[in-house]
Amino acid sequence: MCAKLSFTPLEISAETPVCIGVALDEDLDGWMEAALPYVTDQERAHAERFVHLIDGVRHLVGRALVRKTLKTVVRPYEVGDFLSTQYGRPYSDQTDIDFSISHSGAWVWAAFSRKGQIGIDIEKVRKLRDLLGMAKMFHPQEIAEIQAVPENERPAYFYRCWVRKEALLKANGEGLSKPLDSFCVYTDERRNDWINTDATPEMKGWFTQDLAVGEGCFCSVAVTAPVKEIFVLQVKN
Ligand SMILES: CC(C)(COP(=O)(O)OP(=O)(O)OC[C@H]1O[C@@H](n2cnc3c(N)ncnc32)[C@H](O)[C@@H]1OP(=O)(O)O)[C@@H](O)C(=O)NCCC(=O)NCCS
Repeated sequence: MCAKLSFTPLEISAETPVCIGVALDEDLDGWMEAALPYVTDQERAHAERFVHLIDGVRHLVGRALVRKTLKTVVRPYEVGDFLSTQYGRPYSDQTDIDFSISHSGAWVWAAFSRKGQIGIDIEKVRKLRDLLGMAKMFHPQEIAEIQAVPENERPAYFYRCWVRKEALLKANGEGLSKPLDSFCVYTDERRNDWINTDATPEMKGWFTQDLAVGEGCFCSVAVTAPVKEIFVLQVKN
C-alpha cells in the first residue's frame, strides 16, 4: 500500500469532532495514486477538468481523506458518490457523520462531526493589493477592528476574519449565498470562541477553534453545536 494517506483509524465520538490535515509534497502523481482507491469516476473526471494538476489533486485528496476516514468508522461503507445540497455542500447518505473539506496551497483538510454541522477553512496567505477594499464585504464591526490595527498587522486580522467566516459559512452550509456582513466574528488572536455573539446571537453555543497549521496559513473550524473539544491530526508522510 502507498505510504501516503496512511493513518491509524480514528474514533469520531459525539463529543469530539475530528480534523485531519495532510500537506502535499511535490510528488503529485503519488498523491493521485494514493487517492484513487477512495474516489469515484465522477470525481476523477472533475479533477481532470482543472487546468493545474495541483487543483485536481487537492480535490481528489480531500474526497479521499473523507472516504478513508468514513470507511474506518462506518460499516459497511461503500465508496459511492457524495450527494450535494442546493448550495453545493457535499454529504453522504451512508452516515450521519457530517464533514467538511478545505484546501489551499499544499494543505488539504477534512473535518468530521457527529453533532451539528462542521465547517473548516484553510487559506494560504497571499499579498493583498487592496486589503481594506476587500474587507468592505465584511461586517461593519469586523471592518472597524481591521482598520484599527497598524498596517503591518492588518493581513493577520484580515485572514483570521476570512477563514473564521468561511468556516461558519461552510458549517452553516449556505456558502456565499449568506451575505458576509450578516454575521460577525472577532478578528484578534484567540483560539476559541471567536463568534461575536452580541452581533450574531443566532450562532450562540456554536463551537469554534483556530488550528495552528504553520506560518503563512490560517485555518479555522466551526461546529453548529456545543462540543467541548476537537481532535486534530496532521498526517505525516
Ligand atoms: C465553496 C465555498 C464554500 C468555499 O470555497 P473556498 O474557500 O474557495 O475553497 P475550500 O477549499 O475551502 O472549500 C472547497 C470545498 O468546500 C466544499 N463545499 C462546496 N460548497 C460548499 C458549501 N456550500 N458549504 C460547505 N462546503 C462546501 C467542497 O467540499 C469543496 O471542495 P471539493 O469540491 O474539492 O470537495 C464558498 O464559500 C466559496 O466559493 N468561497 C469563495 C471564497 C470567498 O470569496 N470567500 C469570502 C471570504 S469570507
